Amino acid sequence: RGDQPLKGRRVLVTSGPTHEPIDPVRVLANRSSGRQGHAIAAAAAAAGADVTLVSGPVSIPDPAGVRVVAVESAREMLAAVEQALPADLAIFAAAVADWRVETDSAQKIKKGAGGPPTLRLVENPDILASVARRAEGRPPLVVGFAAETQNVIENARAKLARKGCDLIVANDVSPESGVMGGDRNTVALVSAEGVERWDAMTKEAVAQALIARFATRLTGASA
Ligand code: C5P
Repeated sequence: RGDQPLKGRRVLVTSGPTHEPIDPVRVLANRSSGRQGHAIAAAAAAAGADVTLVSGPVSIPDPAGVRVVAVESAREMLAAVEQALPADLAIFAAAVADWRVETDSAQKIKKGAGGPPTLRLVENPDILASVARRAEGRPPLVVGFAAETQNVIENARAKLARKGCDLIVANDVSPESGVMGGDRNTVALVSAEGVERWDAMTKEAVAQALIARFATRLTGASA
């Protein structure tokens, strides 16, 4: 314990966006730098945990002391997450694309007489919900994120119920918040116990405070 409150614990973190192929050169993607998720993985490792970070395509370095599994699509992310289980703590910070193209083209789609192509989308698996709702092998603490541009707390509460996770870290990602790709984050923790709003902090400080909080919940120890 002490400065290693997660010693001997297995922690799974998802981070970054997913890229859903349209054809060999084009993708459907979310905006996500991966900075908050990567910082959480680094903070968990610093707290002594055995960390697997499943990350979509990002341009930031791998955190030190962490096992990194690089994926592209939501389906690859789900498979890697299942591979990485069991875990004591699972944190889903990735910005997963809600939809993918039903059948991606094996060849580059050409501009032509037919005009722009129509993309038929199908829903991606919900990785967080599928882990949180597992009958067997559910991690004791499952944490989701809610990136919202309005009604942040309301949406986070609804998400908590819909996904079946224990805690939602909610943040305002409206363009005027500067959170997207930025250094700082302002989060609120939403759980069955209520809502806790934190002041704006660097993403590293948010990660450390979150990990301290999760460790307390997991071990019942004071952090
Ligand atoms: O409502 P939304 O699906 O955006 O909820 C976001 C939370 O769910 C995040 O924790 C995100 O990582 C997770 N998620 C997921 N798989 C999806 C969509 C979202 O794990 N397909």
